[in-house]
Amino acid sequence: MANLKVNYAGIEFKNPLVLSSATPGWDGEGMKRAGLAGIGGVIPKTIGPLQDWAAHPCNGRLQLIRQNGKPFGMVNLELFTTKTREDWTNKDLAIAKEGGATMQVSVLAMPQPEETAQLIEEIQATGLVDLLELNVSCPMPASTVGMHIGKSAELTYQQTKLAKGAAKIPLTVKLTPNVADMVEIAQAAKEAGAAGVTISNSVRSFAGVDIETGIPLLRAYGGYTGPAIKPIVMRHLSEVARNVDIPISAVGGVMSFKEIVEYIMLGASTVQTCTAVMWNGYEVIPKLLKDLDNWMDAKGYKSLEEIRGIALPHITTVEDLAKLPAKYASIDADKCTNCGICKKVCFYRAITAGDTAHYVTQSNCDGCGLCAQWCPTGSIELR
Ligand SMILES: Cc1cc2nc3c(=O)[nH]c(=O)nc-3n(C[C@H](O)[C@H](O)[C@H](O)COP(=O)(O)O)c2cc1C
Repeated sequence: MANLKVNYAGIEFKNPLVLSSATPGWDGEGMKRAGLAGIGGVIPKTIGPLQDWAAHPCNGRLQLIRQNGKPFGMVNLELFTTKTREDWTNKDLAIAKEGGATMQVSVLAMPQPEETAQLIEEIQATGLVDLLELNVSCPMPASTVGMHIGKSAELTYQQTKLAKGAAKIPLTVKLTPNVADMVEIAQAAKEAGAAGVTISNSVRSFAGVDIETGIPLLRAYGGYTGPAIKPIVMRHLSEVARNVDIPISAVGGVMSFKEIVEYIMLGASTVQTCTAVMWNGYEVIPKLLKDLDNWMDAKGYKSLEEIRGIALPHITTVEDLAKLPAKYASIDADKCTNCGICKKVCFYRAITAGDTAHYVTQSNCDGCGLCAQWCPTGSIELR
C-alpha cells in the first residue's frame, strides 16, 4: 500500500483528496460523513456574514449540462453558507471534526476587510481548524465580493494581506479561473503572505435556454463545474506551478483517480472535489482513494512526492512544437473496420476508402491527429 500522505501549506493531510467548499460541506454532518468516508481534508461552504447578498435562489439553482443525455458539467447559482457563523463556530465545526479529516475553513473576503479579520478570529478561536481558505473567487455575486476581488491582483493582495494579519494558522487563497492571467494574481497572493493557493473556483457561465419557451434554464449567470472545466483548470494550474513558488490545491472536474494523478503531476499538493460527490454521493470518496492507491502500487510509486510536478518540464510553446519533425497518420489495415469516420474528420482530404480498409495519402496529411483520436478501433497512429 502506497503512502498517500501529503503536506500542503505546512499542514499534513492523510491523503491528497479534499472535499471542496460547496454543498456536500453544507453543515458539520456533511463534512463528518466525508471524513468518515476517508477523505484527507474537508472544507465547509464559504462562511461569511448573513446579508442580503448571501441569500441564494431556492426555486431551482442547479442545472446539469448534458451531451446525448450524459452530464458533463453543471451550472449552479449557489452563493455562500446560509447557516449563521454562530452555527459554525458553536456546533458544526465540532461535528465536522468528528470525521477525522484535516479541517480547512473557507472564509469570504468581505468588502470591509476588518469584517473578514473578525470572522477569521472567531473561526480560529474554536481551536478546531487547521488552515483557512480565503474566497476571492465566487463567480456569481453582482459586485464587491468573490471574483470582483479575485480578478484584480491589487485587491487580492490587499485582502490577503489584511486576512493574513489576523490569521494565526496558515491562510490559503482560492483563486478565480475567470481571468486572462492567473499567474500575476497567485504571485500577489504569495507576496501578501498566502501559504498556498486553490486553483480554482467555478467558471462564470450561463446554463442554456429552453427552446420550446425561449426562457433561460437558469435566469442568472452561474458557476460551471464538473468534467467540462478540467482543461481550463489544468491550464491555470500548470501556468502558476511553472511560475510561482507556492503550494497549490487543485480543483475542478475530478471524476476518477486519474484526474487526481494528473493534477499532482502538474504540481498540485492536494486535490479537491465537489461535483463528483454531488453526482455520486460520499461513497465516491473511498473509491477514488482505493483506485489511486491501486494505481500507485501497480506503478511501484511509494509516495506522491515521486510524481509531483513531473509533467511540468515537458510543457513548451506551440511555436517550439512547430519546429519538431512532422508526423503522418498511418492506418493498420488489419485493425481498420472501414467505418469511414477518419475520412469524415480529415479536412486535408488525406484519407481514402479502400475495399477493406481506409488508407492515408501521406503527402496530404498535415499531422493533426484528429483521425487517430476518433478511430473506434485504435487502428490509426501518428508516426
Ligand atoms: C453547488 C456548488 C456550490 C459551491 N459553493 C462554493 C462555495 O461556497 N465556496 C467556494 O469556494 N466554492 C464553491 N463551489 C465551487 C467548488 O468548491 C469547486 O471549486 C468547483 O465546483 C469545481 O470543482 P468540481 O468540478 O469538482 O465541482 C461550489 C460549487 C458548486 C457546484
